[in-house]
Amino acid sequence: MTDKKTALVTGSSSGIGLATAKVLASQGFQVMLHGLEDASAGEPIANAITQEYGVKTGYCSADISNPAEIEKLFEATVARFGGIDILVNNAGIQYTATTAEFPPEKWDQVLAINLTAPFQLTRLALPLMKQAGWGRVINIASVHGLVASANKSAYCAAKHGLVGFTKVVALEHAADGITANCICPGWTDTPILNHQFKVYAEQNQVSEEEAKRGLILTKSPYPELINPAEIGAMTAFLCSDVAKAINGAAMPVDGGWTAQ
Ligand SMILES: NC(=O)c1ccc[n+]([C@@H]2O[C@H](COP(=O)([O-])OP(=O)(O)OC[C@H]3O[C@@H](n4cnc5c(N)ncnc54)[C@H](O)[C@@H]3O)[C@@H](O)[C@H]2O)c1
Repeated sequence: MTDKKTALVTGSSSGIGLATAKVLASQGFQVMLHGLEDASAGEPIANAITQEYGVKTGYCSADISNPAEIEKLFEATVARFGGIDILVNNAGIQYTATTAEFPPEKWDQVLAINLTAPFQLTRLALPLMKQAGWGRVINIASVHGLVASANKSAYCAAKHGLVGFTKVVALEHAADGITANCICPGWTDTPILNHQFKVYAEQNQVSEEEAKRGLILTKSPYPELINPAEIGAMTAFLCSDVAKAINGAAMPVDGGWTAQ
């Protein structure tokens, strides 16, 4: 599909979002990148993608825990590309603590970034997709949208909420040429895991390399970190014409974690 469709990928300055932006660009999609970094750090990332894949890109810095910044991101995307055909709600944060010790302000922040921001952007993008008669909403949830782990109350609540929210959008727009799906990654090789590996290494008195393998195997039968590009490839597949009947799904890409 190379008819100049535009994807907004949130949190695409790093990790899964950046890999997804590259996979989409490699297939001819125009991409609006986004992150917390200011333009001097973000624009070179977008420019490098344009150079490598020959597609139009843009970059917008916005803190999506703030509703005004979400509107700014939406408006900047429409101003640059004239619309949004694909919305990849990817930006997310993690915070771990027992429920009894979970700081309420951290709960609010995790919910704001991982759940409320996807709602806000989807709400804004849907009328454009409906008008175009085509749209893809792809929400990067997690295995924690399907199952739980101790110490991740806010994250699990947000990701389970994202799965439920996505199903509602799917039902509301099934006849409009729009699909809405979640991808549910397992352990994926990005900076979001660094803190958990560090804590595991300290608690178990092992090297960071041993901590990676050890922590992965506490949950997953697959002993490797998943390559972020493999999550990006699933997003690209969901954007393809053969995926037009996949709607309201929560697709694990988790090395078998949730098969147990
Ligand atoms: N890495 C994993 O193992 C894994 C597993 C399952 C789900 N996920 C999900 O994948 C998504 C991407 O995470 P990642 O692993 O690539 O992590 P990452 O830390 O590499 O990337 C997170 C991105 O979100 C952005 N971001 C964070 N807070 C923001 C804010 N307030 N405003 C705007 N942008 C903000 C960052 O700038 C960054 O671009 C997240 O939703 C995460 O929950 C990751």
